[in-house]
Amino acid sequence: MKGIKILIVNGGPHKGNTWLLTEKARDCLAGLDKSIAFTEVHLSDISLPFCTGCSSCFRKGHTTCPHNETIQPVMDMIEQSDGVIFSVPCFQGHLPGILKNFTDHMAFMLHRPRYFTKKALVISTTAGVSAGGTTKALASTLAGWGFNRCYQLPIASYSWNAYRPAEKDLGKTYKITERFYRDLSSGKLHVPGTGVLIPFNLFRALTSVETEYPTEDNNFWPRYQGQSYAPGVPLTPGKKLLGRLIYGAGRMAAKNISVTYRK
Ligand SMILES: Cc1cc2nc3c(=O)[nH]c(=O)nc-3n(C[C@H](O)[C@H](O)[C@H](O)COP(=O)(O)O)c2cc1C
Repeated sequence: MKGIKILIVNGGPHKGNTWLLTEKARDCLAGLDKSIAFTEVHLSDISLPFCTGCSSCFRKGHTTCPHNETIQPVMDMIEQSDGVIFSVPCFQGHLPGILKNFTDHMAFMLHRPRYFTKKALVISTTAGVSAGGTTKALASTLAGWGFNRCYQLPIASYSWNAYRPAEKDLGKTYKITERFYRDLSSGKLHVPGTGVLIPFNLFRALTSVETEYPTEDNNFWPRYQGQSYAPGVPLTPGKKLLGRLIYGAGRMAAKNISVTYRK
């Protein structure tokens, strides 16, 4: 695939150690393929207010979010890209608040996934521990949003603000970045894991029965009627069967589950 588009999301509050390593990954990609078009968004620049927890995105659709004007352009940027790099410093063993707030605004996608053809690279640095937990946390969220594959690059910088990547760190960075690139340029989509098929088929089932409390989910899922996963994404016969079994279990559970809201 030529003319790959990559969006880089700076999920930290500044351009620190993690950004420095992200720039190494970006330079590596540019060296591998001069035709890549990069776009950047720095979440600290978009002044996204905290998620208010109104649940309007879940119930009525994400365009009714009180902050949709701010979040929609970033969603559009992801939609227009082939791959997304998330630059994520490790704060208290987890995502920095600025990125967590962003993912809270996108949480409705765990009910209504969409980015089935996208691939991601999540880069995190930590002073000492838990960069792996940080990349893993975001990778699991991205899988829920529909991302087809997520590469993880957790690195211990042993520094607050003066990180000089060791040869070993650079080697790992180039290795994982190249894997991300090769996968992107192949245009190949991977068979989804069981952890992705479970919510997909459960939501499909739960929204297939009459409910006193319909939500935007009920408008979304009929398009996937009879499909164990998004069209175009390959499934093995075993995964197809698994999808059908999960759907069947979900249909039975649906009779006893009702998520209420104030009308
Ligand atoms: C609020 C805050 C929380 C942090 N939490 C951790 C942590 O849980 N474990 C750790 O090893 N380092 C922690 N650190 C250190 C950073 O993860 C480390 O310096 C990282 O490289 C910073 O990346 P940045 O410069 O891109 O922000 C923390 C730093 C800050 C500012």
